[in-house]
Amino acid sequence: MTATIIDGSKIAAKIKSTIAEQIRKRAEEELPAPGLATVLVGDDPASRIYVRNKIRTCEKLGIRSIAHALPADTQQRTLEELIDYLNADPKIHGILVQLPLPDQIDEYRILSLLNPQKDVDGFHPINAGMLARKESEPWFIPCTPAGILRLIHSVRPDIAGLNAVVIGRSSIVGMPTAQLLCRNNATVTICHSYSVGLPEIARRADILVAAAGEPRLVRADWIKPGAIVIDVGITRVDDSESEKGYRIVGDTDFESIVPIAGAITPMPGGVGPMTIAMLMRNTLIAAGRSACKIR
Ligand code: GUN
Repeated sequence: MTATIIDGSKIAAKIKSTIAEQIRKRAEEELPAPGLATVLVGDDPASRIYVRNKIRTCEKLGIRSIAHALPADTQQRTLEELIDYLNADPKIHGILVQLPLPDQIDEYRILSLLNPQKDVDGFHPINAGMLARKESEPWFIPCTPAGILRLIHSVRPDIAGLNAVVIGRSSIVGMPTAQLLCRNNATVTICHSYSVGLPEIARRADILVAAAGEPRLVRADWIKPGAIVIDVGITRVDDSESEKGYRIVGDTDFESIVPIAGAITPMPGGVGPMTIAMLMRNTLIAAGRSACKIR
């Protein structure tokens, strides 16, 4: 068997083109452009690249982006005041606070201060709580998990009853992905650094989501033949042979898994583009809910 390569770039491009079309229609109806505020604190190179890519995509789709870049020594109070200000601005429909935040900042408190209806990342405790409860719908679903589900659905529209194993329990990816898969009726196992017998657990997975942030953690002999493998990893590793001195590596040993899996995401071009597409989608949804005309 040779795995289908799930083309995240292509799927994301289609979603983004639909969003651009909907934004054009909004303009015809004299509705304001969706507005996304990005908040970047510090100078982490990876975070800077992520935020820059989000801002560029906004520009391409007709979303107004308002970038706030704060120094690494920003104090809690300053960031809280910025969040209050963004919450109150009616032209801003979505707020993205890029994570991680520097150590002196209480991240959970900052996320808790966001207006949950502008929380396009879905990280506010109300949104996280609503995702966890079967009977409630969150205002927003976190972007990477929502993108992962779309990728899985592109090869397997109905996942009810399938065994899903999620490696990683972060609040940004692992935990909400597990909840989303469970809401879609998969049988979900969450693994983390204390889990014992990871290869055996992984081998039971019809859907394996690798979100541990450990380069090439998942090997070919962890894979059940025909499984859907989603690689969320994106780690910079030193590489003296590369021009930049580093290369970006996923959480799976892609080449050796391709002959065994049924479908797999590449890196780059898998989950990454979907995260941005889902952020754009959430921003458009946020704007749609605050239906106010320009005049
Ligand atoms: N850091 C890593 N992934 C994300 C994300 O999806 N959203 C935010 N805000 N920060 C992140």
